[in-house]
Amino acid sequence: MLIRLQKFMAEAQVASRRKCEEIILSGRVAVNGETVSVLGTKIDDKTDTVTLDGREIKRGGSHIYIMLNKPEGYITTVSDRFDRPTVMDLVKDVGERIYPVGRLDYDTAGLLLMTNDGELTYRLTHPKHNINKTYIAAVDSAPTQSEIKRFESGIVIDGRKTARAKLGIIKTDGRYTYLKIIIHEGRNRQVRKMCEAIGHPVRRLRRAATGTLKLGGLKTGEYRHLTADEVKYLKSL
Ligand code: URA
Repeated sequence: MLIRLQKFMAEAQVASRRKCEEIILSGRVAVNGETVSVLGTKIDDKTDTVTLDGREIKRGGSHIYIMLNKPEGYITTVSDRFDRPTVMDLVKDVGERIYPVGRLDYDTAGLLLMTNDGELTYRLTHPKHNINKTYIAAVDSAPTQSEIKRFESGIVIDGRKTARAKLGIIKTDGRYTYLKIIIHEGRNRQVRKMCEAIGHPVRRLRRAATGTLKLGGLKTGEYRHLTADEVKYLKSL
């Protein structure tokens, strides 16, 4: 059936029809690989492939949702111009093309969601979504109460103050002090920059949770499919 592009997108719950029009005009949508940045295009919802930021928008089809425990030393993109290992290498046997939801730095480990549900990816990575993300950071020594207060009340990084955050000290071993950090923005290298700003550069970093979804016992480099309840939770956010 031929259907207007913005109607197709709205029905796939990308956003309201009005908002989908804006997204089309901003040049982020392609039909069969060709960018469409004018309104009025009609597509065949059975045979045409529509992508948003390069990710397919599917309607009704079966979607896959997985949680990967990303190791350090993997890049969160589909391909890397320096030929470094990418997270795609770790999910090859999923059997469907899936994409990371947001990103973790090359040298950050931990929870990375991956899916072929373009609408959910779009919604979860939208800045207004503010989902809590919990990180475990290894630093050289424990921050003081006043450093913690500065961290939690917001620090100017890249010219803009961070939103309220939480920082707790988990433990100190012979080598590192481990901090539990909760932020709900997703700015570039945010945890590293915030820790650096209070004088405690991060030596190692791992994301332990996204919202209520936790890595639990998932081993480094392994992935698992989300449960129906976990998918429902993500869609409710
Ligand atoms: N903050 C960082 O500094 N790095 C990440 O990968 C994620 C959050």
